[in-house]
Amino acid sequence: MRAIQLQQTSAGPALIEADLPSPKAGPGELLIRVHAAGVTPTELLWYPTTHQQSGEARTGAVPGHELSGVVEALGAGVEGPPVGAAVFGMNDWFADGATAELCVTRPEWVAAKPAGLSHAEAASAPIGALTAWQGLYERAGLQAGESVLVHGGAGAVGIYAVQLARRRGARVVTTGSARNRYFLLELGADQVLDYHTERFDEVLQGLDVVFDVIGGETLERSWGVLKPQGRMVTIAAASEGTQDERTKQAFFIVEPKGDQLAEIAKLLDAGELRPIVQSVAAFADAPAAYLHPAKGRGKVVIDVAGAAEA
Ligand SMILES: NC(=O)c1ccc[n+]([C@@H]2O[C@H](COP(=O)([O-])OP(=O)(O)OC[C@H]3O[C@@H](n4cnc5c(N)ncnc54)[C@H](OP(=O)(O)O)[C@@H]3O)[C@@H](O)[C@H]2O)c1
Repeated sequence: MRAIQLQQTSAGPALIEADLPSPKAGPGELLIRVHAAGVTPTELLWYPTTHQQSGEARTGAVPGHELSGVVEALGAGVEGPPVGAAVFGMNDWFADGATAELCVTRPEWVAAKPAGLSHAEAASAPIGALTAWQGLYERAGLQAGESVLVHGGAGAVGIYAVQLARRRGARVVTTGSARNRYFLLELGADQVLDYHTERFDEVLQGLDVVFDVIGGETLERSWGVLKPQGRMVTIAAASEGTQDERTKQAFFIVEPKGDQLAEIAKLLDAGELRPIVQSVAAFADAPAAYLHPAKGRGKVVIDVAGAAEA
């Protein structure tokens, strides 16, 4: 099958198109014929991309762990979804990803694809929507009437954090570039701060929750805008290897949860949550989408099947 694979070359890490053996669904697994796969460029730097679960070095990873496609086969012991069903969701960070014609996942990590969405729109949602859902609703326990600062509101995760926080009934402040100001207000933000020209920590204080996707000095300055019992959530790649105890407590990695995806699918189908596809790249352009990400809004998606509509 056609796949995009991470390889070490004399010039450093590169993504190349490869012809790999087709995977098979093992016990408890689903084999998916991928139509579209989401791009998270920072994933190339994450631990599971370069390490096996055992801790040994990993080479040849296929990137892209969110997908929309059709069930091709069921492994032993799997009762559904049936062959031919359209699904969207995630697969294991340590497994080969979805930038390939076929990929393996588990039934509990996918949900029925929202019928009203194209495969490209559906593939743009799982990581962003689940990360925002788990960060705001599970970890921060955001309540109606509370205030939240979402950093990077126009990004792939941020667009869902802004929408889900608003949906919960919170007051939403977000940071972004000036060109995204009206987009973010329309998405549901009450206040937008341009991080290029305004220092959020000079104008905000006493907030209930901060949802950080940036890390580093942005995270450092964010502690001061929280009220004494305020809650911090950080998902930033920069926060992963931290030695700082409170940052460790605030950091989490998204979990693939099909039941939450089913709730998200209902909202997407009802138009109560908007997927934002920045662009749809052809399969052959997947390496550039990872290695030279363009600035934009929402998520870049790879059209794996050559038929997905944006
Ligand atoms: N832990 C997890 O489970 C998990 C899951 C998904 C993603 N992540 C991580 O989360 C981070 C964000 O991912 P993403 O996919 O949402 O990235 P993205 O799509 O590139 O979005 C990042 C956004 O942040 C904005 N931004 C850049 N610098 C900023 C600053 N100093 N202050 C405020 N906003 C700023 C960018 O705006 P401009 O375009 O205007 O610069 C962009 O809209 C990455 O580090 C990724 O690795 C972690």
